[in-house]
Amino acid sequence: MAESLGIALVGCGTVGTGVARILTEHAGRMTARAGGRSLVLRHLVVRDLAKPRDVVVPGAAVGTDWRAAVADPAVQIVVELIGGTTIAKDVVLAALAAGKHVVTANKALLAAHGFELFEAARKAERVICFEAAVAGGIPIIRALGESLAANQITGIQGILNGTSNFILSAMAESGTSYSDALKEAQRLGYAEADPTLDVDGSDAAHKLAVLAQIAFGVTAQPGDIEKQGIAGIDAMDTRFAAELGYTIKLLAEAWVADKTVALHVAPVLLRRTDPLAQVRGAFNAVLVTGDVVGETLFQGAGAGMMPTASSVVADILDIAVGRAQKTFAAAKLWSGKTEFALAPSDKVRSRFYLRALVRDEPGVLADVCRCLANERISIASIIQHEAVESPALSADLPAGRTGENQPILMVPLVIMTHVAETGRFRAAAKALAKLPGVCGPAVFFSVDD
Ligand SMILES: NC(=O)c1ccc[n+]([C@@H]2O[C@H](COP(=O)([O-])OP(=O)(O)OC[C@H]3O[C@@H](n4cnc5c(N)ncnc54)[C@H](OP(=O)(O)O)[C@@H]3O)[C@@H](O)[C@H]2O)c1
Repeated sequence: MAESLGIALVGCGTVGTGVARILTEHAGRMTARAGGRSLVLRHLVVRDLAKPRDVVVPGAAVGTDWRAAVADPAVQIVVELIGGTTIAKDVVLAALAAGKHVVTANKALLAAHGFELFEAARKAERVICFEAAVAGGIPIIRALGESLAANQITGIQGILNGTSNFILSAMAESGTSYSDALKEAQRLGYAEADPTLDVDGSDAAHKLAVLAQIAFGVTAQPGDIEKQGIAGIDAMDTRFAAELGYTIKLLAEAWVADKTVALHVAPVLLRRTDPLAQVRGAFNAVLVTGDVVGETLFQGAGAGMMPTASSVVADILDIAVGRAQKTFAAAKLWSGKTEFALAPSDKVRSRFYLRALVRDEPGVLADVCRCLANERISIASIIQHEAVESPALSADLPAGRTGENQPILMVPLVIMTHVAETGRFRAAAKALAKLPGVCGPAVFFSVDD
């Protein structure tokens, strides 16, 4: 009979519970898929023993001492599912030093410490598998690293944060404001009480850093990825986008030019017919372009107990049959070996959507157009609807710009540009914000046709 494989589950929260359930409820299927080796859950490590758990694992020791679980000679695989970048890093390094393989779903850990962890794994001749770290249940790590191995990847566009996608979908579909959509996401459990890392683009940037490592071999620290979140999107932007035939999505993008790759996370206007524009709610999707295959689209549940656990268990099975050991050695991830350099997104060319609240006065439109012309940006179309008198807004304006308590007429001005360099567009937007006729900072997003 084939030798069994001992597993320590460090962290038994949302994902850990799902992993424990698959391993216990589908033990026969797991053994068959593991080439006859039974997968034995020997330890569940948690922080609070008193907390009720939704899973019972007969025969597993439940404790709080991760070091003891990792050191157990009957354990061959340590599954890190506690999250964060401090104790999780200690767990992974201790597991490798003890000769155990590691499975993790922790993109923040990989993005911050990938180099050190993978060096340690190579030294220990063990593997780190992380299919669940990006886009939960979607097998994007294997797709990039294995199934598309014949390609040079030339572009990645991903909806990698389900919370942001839920909020933007709600705004587009029911015309609700950002804050109301966020409250609804929190009520339904799609957003944390503190949603910052989801809505400011940090979570998507961590995942993009991991994808960029696999696709291009570049090690992007979280600070290397330019990011713009979704909090600045107003209900009027979703309305204008719809009027123009677009939907706003938070995209994590990697664009290749020569031997450079630009990585950024930002809201983008996508044509309503674009497959990514149709990804609704908390779902994730990744559009990968390869030089041989062309475009491929991967879509599914990007988070949640069972979808994420599905990917974690696939990693365990890969280790059980020895597949992960072969691919890990060949992939040389986080080894510093790459022919690509990271480039700022300044040179990436795109069309832009620009929306500013402007005073409805002669000359303002000309001033705005001049700011764009100064950066050699050509205008494709302009939308300016009838102004409404809005004395309430005058109170929000900086002193000296409103006139003495006089009601002013303000109007949203929307400009769609032709293709321009991002850097030039940013410079134009900066100049525009200083114009006396422009009330508050302009909002701008790139447009993907
Ligand atoms: N949730 C998702 O849908 C999802 C999707 C993709 C990737 N991920 C990643 O998966 C990882 C786990 O996420 P999660 O949502 O499952 O987190 P979670 O629900 O907060 O669970 C964390 C678990 O770790 C335990 N823990 C925390 N600190 C510990 C410590 N110092 N010692 C021992 N145990 C400790 C907690 O114990 P207690 O239960 O006693 O508090 C809990 O069981 C994270 O890296 C996350 O980014 C999650």
